[in-house]
Amino acid sequence: MRYYLLGLFVVVTAILCVVGFRGQMTERTPIELFDDMDRQAKVKYQKPSEFFADGRASRMPVTGTIPATIPIDDEYFVTGAIGNQWGDGMPKSVTVSTKFMAAGKERYEINCRVCHGSTGMGNGIVTQYGLAGVANLLDERIRTMSDGELFNTITKGKGQMMGYGANITPQDRWAIVAYMRALQRSQKASLSDVPETERGKLLKK
Ligand code: HEC
Repeated sequence: MRYYLLGLFVVVTAILCVVGFRGQMTERTPIELFDDMDRQAKVKYQKPSEFFADGRASRMPVTGTIPATIPIDDEYFVTGAIGNQWGDGMPKSVTVSTKFMAAGKERYEINCRVCHGSTGMGNGIVTQYGLAGVANLLDERIRTMSDGELFNTITKGKGQMMGYGANITPQDRWAIVAYMRALQRSQKASLSDVPETERGKLLKK
């Protein structure tokens, strides 16, 4: 009994020590068992510095620095809409080239492949880990959507899918739209998609 009371006293005191003073305000420096990096050698904003010859801690941009600008030609380029309708086709400022398509492929593979899969079939790696309902981008319903609407889906997301507007520049979003079209076409190509000089090779077989 005596040991029990003694033990109880020790336990209660220990709990009170740890919990009892929580939430109390103090002006004093807290006890730091490990250095919390609260104090470090650094210059605060708008404060002088002895390190630089001119005594200023805030540095000017390097001579010749120019601000980064994202080309924005019109409303369609950033929204995919013309007035209150989705537009179709690439915006004026976008030039579709091999480089543009390669950028679209790269961006698609970084941002979309995990869910929609390499070919757009909706069988990306995450579907093996339980994500259901990923759209098949080769579906007729999505094939026949306008470019502007697809652009908007990438920007703002749709249903279960989140938007990527904050992560991908408008230029790259258009490149992804173009690459999605290439994926769709690759799965449903007709003879007229093959250059005339190459058609013979297909027909021979
Ligand atoms: C985290 C998984 C995930 C990622 C990453 C993802 N999507 Fe999706 N996407 C989905 C799901 C799930 C749906 C079905 C949404 C629904 O119907 O609720 C969908 C639907 C779509 C649709 C069809 C929308 C409609 O109108 O029905 C398009 C187009 C699309 N995604 C394109 C893309 C593109 C392009 C990217 C890359 C920029 C991308 N997705 C990235 C999961 C993803």
